[in-house]
Amino acid sequence: MFGSLQPQPADKILKLMQMFKDDPREDKIDLGVGVYKNANGVTPIMNAVKDAEERIWQTQHSKAYVGLAGDAEFNEALIELVLADSVSRAHVAAVATPGGTGAVRQAFELVRQANPQVRLFVSQPTWPNHLSILNYLGIEIVEYRYFDEHSRSVNLQGMLDDIAQAGPNDVVLMHGCCHNPTGANLTSSEWDAVIASIQQTGATPMIDIAYQGFGDGLDNDAAATRRIASSCPEIIIAASCSKNFGIYRERTGQLMLITSSKKKSVLNLNQDTLAFLNRQNYSFPPDHGGRIVSTILNDDELRTRWADELEHMRISMLEIRAQLARELQQRSQSNRFGFIAQHRGMFSRLGCSPEKVDRLRDEHGIYMVGDSRINIAGLNSQTVPILAQAILDVGI
Ligand code: LMR
Repeated sequence: MFGSLQPQPADKILKLMQMFKDDPREDKIDLGVGVYKNANGVTPIMNAVKDAEERIWQTQHSKAYVGLAGDAEFNEALIELVLADSVSRAHVAAVATPGGTGAVRQAFELVRQANPQVRLFVSQPTWPNHLSILNYLGIEIVEYRYFDEHSRSVNLQGMLDDIAQAGPNDVVLMHGCCHNPTGANLTSSEWDAVIASIQQTGATPMIDIAYQGFGDGLDNDAAATRRIASSCPEIIIAASCSKNFGIYRERTGQLMLITSSKKKSVLNLNQDTLAFLNRQNYSFPPDHGGRIVSTILNDDELRTRWADELEHMRISMLEIRAQLARELQQRSQSNRFGFIAQHRGMFSRLGCSPEKVDRLRDEHGIYMVGDSRINIAGLNSQTVPILAQAILDVGI
């Protein structure tokens, strides 16, 4: 039976992780997979998370199933973190999912169920796993222009022209903040234009928000998502707690479906459909990570400490961005790398050929994704000058 299995295309981010592990060079630098690392190269457990886990350990007396939607306190707390008061809670259906990827997968299944002919509009480029899951599910992909390779910023006109081609039965997927893989983001007025265009097409917006708090702060990073939620009749949101709570392996995420309908039957059906999809795919979602999140968000003191720790991570990434842009400016005697300081979140796309990415790896032991995405958090003040020199040595 299994003799008929075909090899699957390798995931380029996970393949890179393995190559880095296998490289014996001691001075190698990992700018691959998107996990936050401190100046010592460690992905730390946040203190607020440790304390929340201790409280859970002290007070939790059962590991029995909770419910198909996951823990209600987690769902409420994350809805509030992402949406604040932009929409009435009554209009939000939500379930916990295994990480942000679980939410993305469930969202795609949801829209396919609602419309088997749905077309998913995705940014060019987008997170490679968006494309992989869509292909796996047999959903038609339409790319919209997003990244201007020359300026390394958003090609707004291209984006607007392309999403204008969407129709009422299509979905337009956008990154809520900290675009992965480019680091280039829409300004507030550019979001206005995008929202107006989506409203005109009647397409359903879908937001993948995986880096809230890593760009311009917790509220600023959710501002576009909140504006879309309050101005479009329907919206799907896939939220992740992996990065902003540093609980990657706990697989903690949430799928939200928001409708402006006031009909109780519609709201109930939305919630039931999300719970049904959970049941079909993995039954009950993981609980531990969600409980960490709700323990933190529902306790003023823990929440403040967590927000401070997150802010520290955000500022340290901004400092690295500034240092790298400065080093490159001094060494190249040009401003052509200024975009690194403008980008936000964990990633920047350098915008060089795969051959140069290979040379950086082979000649300098510097690992980045083949499209020249670097993880800013993989750097520290000592490795920034090494990367800057290597970038110039290979002729970027
Ligand atoms: C990334 O883009 O590196 C992260 O989202 C991790 C992943 O699963 O790809």
